[in-house]
Amino acid sequence: MNLVIIGYGGMGGYHAQKLKEYNEGKPIAPITVIGVYDIDKQRELIAQKNGYKIYSNQQEIWADKNVDAVLIATPNDVHAMYVMAASKAGKNMICEKPIGMNCLEAEQMYAFAKEANIIFSIHQNRRWDDDFLTIKNIFDNSLIGDVYCIESRVMGSNGIPGAWRKEKAHGGGMMLDWGVHLIDQMLQMVKSPIQSLYCEYSYIYGEEVDDGCNLTVNFENGIKYRIIIATDCFRNLPRWQVYGTQGTATINDWNLSGGITRVLIRDDKNLIGIKAGNGFTRTMAPRIGNSIEQIDLPIVNAEPFAFYKNFGASCLGHTENIIKPEEVIRVCKVMEAAERSAKQNIVIKDKL
Ligand SMILES: NC(=O)c1ccc[n+]([C@@H]2O[C@H](COP(=O)([O-])OP(=O)(O)OC[C@H]3O[C@@H](n4cnc5c(N)ncnc54)[C@H](O)[C@@H]3O)[C@@H](O)[C@H]2O)c1
Repeated sequence: MNLVIIGYGGMGGYHAQKLKEYNEGKPIAPITVIGVYDIDKQRELIAQKNGYKIYSNQQEIWADKNVDAVLIATPNDVHAMYVMAASKAGKNMICEKPIGMNCLEAEQMYAFAKEANIIFSIHQNRRWDDDFLTIKNIFDNSLIGDVYCIESRVMGSNGIPGAWRKEKAHGGGMMLDWGVHLIDQMLQMVKSPIQSLYCEYSYIYGEEVDDGCNLTVNFENGIKYRIIIATDCFRNLPRWQVYGTQGTATINDWNLSGGITRVLIRDDKNLIGIKAGNGFTRTMAPRIGNSIEQIDLPIVNAEPFAFYKNFGASCLGHTENIIKPEEVIRVCKVMEAAERSAKQNIVIKDKL
C-alpha cells in the first residue's frame, strides 16, 4: 500500500520512521510512505531530503492513482477537510487523534468515509501502551479484587507545547490533546455506561485553552475513574493507581516501575498505632507483618506495530478496523460533556 503523509510535523515524521520499521518486519500488509504534503516549505524540504515525493497541493494527491492511502497528521482543525476530500477520492485513511474538533464533525467524517466505503482509522495508539495493558490485565483478571477506583494521570512541566496547541481555533488544549487518549483507554477498560461526570480545567498561564484538567467519571457499575492531566507539575504522582477490594496497584511511569500490594488479612489484629504529625493514629498506620504481600506487576507488552498491522490488514479486507466509529464518537461525547462540566461548573448526568 502506498501512503502519503499530510502534515509532516512531529507526528508525521514519527509515522514515517515507524512505518519504515514496520515494513522491515516484512508484514503481510506493508505500508510504504511515498510522499508528503505540508503547507510549510521548511517541512517539505526536510521531507524531500528524506527521500519523499513532495505534492504541491492536495488535488495532486487525490488525482494520483498510485496513492492508496493518506495519513493526516495536521493540526486538529483541518482533519475534517482532508478526511472528506480523501473519502471523495476513494483513498483509505489514518487520521490522527482527536478525530476532529467535536462530535458533529466526527459524525460527518464517518458518514463521508462510509459513503465512500473506505477504511478510516483513528490513531488511538495509546490502546497499545504497555502501562495501560498492564493495568487492564490487573483489572480484567481481578488481581486486586473488585476494582472500585482508578486514577490515570499524565503530568508534565513544559506547559502547552508549540503554537497551534495553544489556540482554540486549531483545536488546541489538553483535553483534545491528552484527554482523548486517557478517555479512550478508560472506555476500553470499564465496560459500563457512565452515570455522571465532573471536570475542572486549569488555565495556569492564562492561555485561551485548557492546560490541564481533572475529570472524575462515575460509572453505573460503581467504578470511579479519575483522569488528571497537568502541564505545570515538577514532581509527579504515579501514572496509575488502582484500588481494589483486595489490594492496590501502582504504575509510576512509562518505564513501568511500581508494584501491587495485596491484602491477606483485612482486619489486622496486630495493628500498631503510630505518631503522626502532632497526633496519633491507628487508622492511617502502615501495615506491618504478614497482613499484606508485595507482588510484581504482571507486565503486558503490546504486540509491536499492532495499529499499522490492523490498518494494513483491514485495507486488504482481511480483518475489521479495530478503531470502531462508535468508540471514537463516545470519546468525543465524553470530552464534550467534560468541557460543559468545566465551563459551567456542573455535574453532568447524561447517560454516556
Ligand atoms: N497519537 C499520538 O500519540 C499523537 C502525538 C502527537 C500529536 N498527535 C496528533 O498529530 C497531529 C499533528 O500534531 P503534531 O504534534 O505533529 O503537530 P506539528 O505542529 O508538529 O505538525 C503539524 C504539521 O502539519 C502542517 N500543517 C498545518 N496545517 C496544514 C494544512 N492545512 N495542510 C497540510 N499541512 C499542514 C504543519 O506545517 C506541520 O508540519 C495532531 O492532530 C495531534 O493531535 C498525535
